[in-house]
Amino acid sequence: MVIPLGALRLASSNAHKARELERALPGWTVELLEADEFPPEDGETYFENALIKARFGRSWASPDELVLGEDSGIEAAVLGGRPGIHSARWGKPGSSVDRLLRELEGKNDRRARYVCELVCLLPDGTELRARGTLEGEVVRERRGTGGFGYDPVFVPEGETSTVAELGDEWKATNSHRARAALKLLEEFLGG
Ligand code: IMP
Repeated sequence: MVIPLGALRLASSNAHKARELERALPGWTVELLEADEFPPEDGETYFENALIKARFGRSWASPDELVLGEDSGIEAAVLGGRPGIHSARWGKPGSSVDRLLRELEGKNDRRARYVCELVCLLPDGTELRARGTLEGEVVRERRGTGGFGYDPVFVPEGETSTVAELGDEWKATNSHRARAALKLLEEFLGG
């Protein structure tokens, strides 16, 4: 199946995610779904949550649009992969990064990975999925102003700067989300 370049409707209210996906997919536009409320993310995996969002988007978007569901998170090795799918709501609102730093206090193993799962629902109901990961480690203090979420404390493998210092241009080609988007593109191109 070869899908022509076009527009994607992202079932999310996170403008960072839409911008990052759009930069990762040259020639495509990625627009947020304008829904007042999104369904609860009560799946047990990133894929299930991405599918919940994509199906919700499918029910809202116009029939000829390609709809995208995305779920992502950060997994700390020494915490057995937590917070994982609970990354957005870990700790008190707005303090997820503080909680991660607290839980890693005194730990030498700082390894972590970002994970992103994408589910694309085509107008004919075809479901495409793609996963991207980014390995790295969690540093002890915040650095940088770019990106969002855990980016000020995450240094990717092979880098010395945090993702927040590396910035949006770097994320557009290297992030877990960009990697998943490129795999999705291969699916679009019939890969
Ligand atoms: P959700 O996919 O809406 O459940 O949210 C995923 C959460 O994981 C975000 O709110 C962030 O806390 C974290 N996260 C996912 N991707 C990134 C990223 O690229 N940078 C920083 N944090 C991220």
